[in-house]
Amino acid sequence: MTDDQNRDDQPVIMPHTYDGIQEYDQSLPNWWLFTLFGSMAFAFLYWMACFVTGTVADDRVALNVELDALEARQLAAVKNLDDGTLWKMSRNAQTVAEGQAIYHSLCFTCHAPNLAGMKGLGFRLNDDLWVHGNTPTAIFTGISEGITFEGKPTGMAAQKVLGTSRIAAVTAFLLSKQKEGSMKTILRKDEPSQQSP
Ligand code: HEC
Repeated sequence: MTDDQNRDDQPVIMPHTYDGIQEYDQSLPNWWLFTLFGSMAFAFLYWMACFVTGTVADDRVALNVELDALEARQLAAVKNLDDGTLWKMSRNAQTVAEGQAIYHSLCFTCHAPNLAGMKGLGFRLNDDLWVHGNTPTAIFTGISEGITFEGKPTGMAAQKVLGTSRIAAVTAFLLSKQKEGSMKTILRKDEPSQQSP
């Protein structure tokens, strides 16, 4: 080894001194650079996946779905359904989704897919005007027991076979379109869906 080579191998010391500390002019080791740039790349991908594209589900969303399911099960197990419980069900996404599915398999033929009612068939269910009772329990009972008018059965037959929890779910679906405290009663002859246009 010559003297020259020896000198090149010596670490170069930078000219500055801070607080008596001197610094070598060396490039950073590759493993260190790899960790630095790797963590930057990871942070970028993590940010994209969780906050921009939403590829990875937010924990809070998953948690809310779980809590919703838990509440739906608790509400379905309530023995004495009252107005308060039915309103609560109408704010539970899973119960409402279940009720919506029931509506679109059994009720839409007479009440229309958009709940607007059909002349000569089912009444309108998406406005705040109710003929057979303007409370959640009245709606529940109408669906469960069927509706009579002046002692005669109407086209609205009893749906008791569905069982309490499914009738409650479809009631909750109807209530999800309503505002608590603003449902009104009207006379049967005034039902808008049955009027001539
Ligand atoms: C065969 C047709 C038919 C089907 C199917 C039907 N309904 Fe009805 N529904 C009616 C008719 C007709 C009335 C109006 C009763 C009357 O003449 O007073 C009515 C009334 C109602 C009312 C009362 C509306 C008010 O203004 O008070 C509700 C609530 C209701 N139906 C919900 C349902 C639900 C929920 C389903 C599905 C599970 C359903 N109906 C299925 C025909 C039907």
